[in-house]
Amino acid sequence: MKYAKIQGTGSCAPDNVLSNEDLEKIIDTSDEWITTRTGIKQRRIVDKGKYTSDLAMEACIRALDDANMPASELDGIILGTISPDFIFPSTACILQSQLGCGNIMAFDLLAGCSGFQYALHVGNGMICSGQSKNLLIVGAEVLSRIMDYEDRSTCILFGDGAGAVVLTQSDEPGVMSSILNSDGDNWEMLYMPGGGSRIPATEESVKNRDHYLKMNGRDVFKVAVKSLETSSVAAVEKANLKPDDIDLFVPHQANLRIIDAVRKRLDMPEEKVYINLDKYGNTSSASVPIALDEAVKAGRAKEGDIILTAAFGAGFTWGASIFKL
Ligand code: ACO
Repeated sequence: MKYAKIQGTGSCAPDNVLSNEDLEKIIDTSDEWITTRTGIKQRRIVDKGKYTSDLAMEACIRALDDANMPASELDGIILGTISPDFIFPSTACILQSQLGCGNIMAFDLLAGCSGFQYALHVGNGMICSGQSKNLLIVGAEVLSRIMDYEDRSTCILFGDGAGAVVLTQSDEPGVMSSILNSDGDNWEMLYMPGGGSRIPATEESVKNRDHYLKMNGRDVFKVAVKSLETSSVAAVEKANLKPDDIDLFVPHQANLRIIDAVRKRLDMPEEKVYINLDKYGNTSSASVPIALDEAVKAGRAKEGDIILTAAFGAGFTWGASIFKL
């Protein structure tokens, strides 16, 4: 039996900080409102001329370095994103070229904020089945380019960043369980109307602000709590573990109130939950791998620890995984 194991982690966030105080100057909001409703204090924003592939590239280089693996040993790149450089070609192909690996498989995967969770699941399946040995699993976003900075209900939430893991074949676990779900019934609650085949880019679509993310936050909140809880519980059970066995919970960093509600439902102490949304806001697909990398580098997640990750996003999509570091 072969397993997939995380051999290295890396992340990258732009230097530019957009604080709650900065947002107070451009929209009708306050640091107090944002902090109490979300827990977010600031987010990072890329410079002009920098793209999702640039952030992803840096995160991948760091993950490969951490894994002590040259890019030439990779046999695939799977990148979760909702803000690719282009709709096509995939941002994963741009990475393939820049990383200097061979002509390996490379593709983007679109699953809202669950992009990394989905990519990890697919990568795990490919490694366990023997189709791949060494994969880069990436979550990368430049959400500032699809944010409407006139919409105070969304622009305060999101930021830019990238995270990556090197997933490699191993005789020991590794990934112990992975659960994915979707429900497209309410896709309009969280989407970007423009840029696809329904509303292609026209002068009118730009005027209608169709190329920005739209969200019904209140309804999304309720679905998020429920789905994060059910998938986390399912992943723990599938791994034949008990919640107590989890050393660290690394949830999608969307909103502190969502994380806290899920933590209470899982009956987990605060110190077992990794939170960094105060610094980065919601970086969608990048949020779990950035948090995981930070937790590893800070010594909060160590070799042999059992980690639970869970994410939720547009679609809706959601999922959770358990792995041993
Ligand atoms: N500043 C000040 N007031 C605001 C702001 C703001 N930035 N935004 C909204 N308000 C106002 C609203 O207009 C409303 O005023 P009203 O009562 O006079 O109508 C009031 O605050 C309350 O608004 P709600 O939307 O009910 O606020 P809520 O407590 O639900 O918090 C929030 C909003 C933070 C968006 C929350 O609903 C949330 O986090 N939802 C989940 C969102 C999420 O996690 N999305 C990520 C999914 S992942 C992906 O795939 C991208």
